[in-house]
Amino acid sequence: MTVPLLAVDRLEYRYPGGVVALRDLNLQVQKGRRLAILGANGSGKTTLLLHLNGTFRPTSGEVRIEGQPAGYDRRSLIRWRRRVGLVLQEPDDQLFAATVEQDVSFGPLNLGLSAAETRERVSEALEALRITPLAQRATHTLSFGQKKRVAIAGILAMRPEMLVLDEPTAGLDSHGVTHLLGVLRQLHEAGATLIFSTHDVELAYSWADEVAVFYEGTVRMQGETSAVLGNRELLHRARLRPPLLLEVAQALGMDAESLPRSREALLLLLRERR
Ligand SMILES: Nc1ncnc2c1ncn2[C@@H]1O[C@H](COP(=O)(O)OP(=O)(O)OP(=O)(O)O)[C@@H](O)[C@H]1O
Ligand SMILES: [Mg+2]
Repeated sequence: MTVPLLAVDRLEYRYPGGVVALRDLNLQVQKGRRLAILGANGSGKTTLLLHLNGTFRPTSGEVRIEGQPAGYDRRSLIRWRRRVGLVLQEPDDQLFAATVEQDVSFGPLNLGLSAAETRERVSEALEALRITPLAQRATHTLSFGQKKRVAIAGILAMRPEMLVLDEPTAGLDSHGVTHLLGVLRQLHEAGATLIFSTHDVELAYSWADEVAVFYEGTVRMQGETSAVLGNRELLHRARLRPPLLLEVAQALGMDAESLPRSREALLLLLRERR
């Protein structure tokens, strides 16, 4: 077994005021994988993700980066955040510059890149998210979906090796979701490790290599997507329903190896059966 890129070991987190949001939590993220953190509202997803780039420090337990315990001094945090980019659930919590271009430039400039290199990164990130026409707009005047794209572009411009996204598809229309998943696929093919949280089992099923199911502040099971999402008992406890695609395929008696992972794949199989 290779050393995980990121590992969380027996993590506990208590919010100031006393709420224990995470307890005895273990998670491993292998390089190059796509991992979905799946859990109902209030299960602790956001609290966990805020530990993955050092925004939160565990009350007890630890986070390890390639086997080394993470440091929380300034230098360690800068190095950590260069490698792991976190896109927050609420774009308003992430965006702060006056215009889109300024906002997306902030990360690369902060990394010490030249103005020319920053411009190149920014234009590439805006292009990838298809928001080039919004470059000069004031961020506070954008729609929610537009802000979300700007927030993602800002992290992409830093070219992190691991991208952590908190509910990236929430609030996007179906076209926006398809486009975002395409962007993530390209990043993954280019070698990035991806983690995203969601309560959407269909999305986790169609997108992830691995799923970690979360409830009552801890990861109850982490494993290959079909194995985890085929576990009804587990999903029921996590207040989630099994993915419809998986249920339909199982009801049709399809064997485990040929289970379709997208609606297009399912429709193709159904047409072939007629
Ligand atoms: N600032 C805070 N102070 C105290 N408790 C908090 C705070 N933020 C979150 N919590 C609590 O921690 C628990 C986990 O919350 P968290 O936001 O991590 O869940 P989540 O899985 O991301 O939920 P959602 O799907 O709604 O985004 C909840 O019980 C929540 O009420
Ligand atoms: Mg959340």
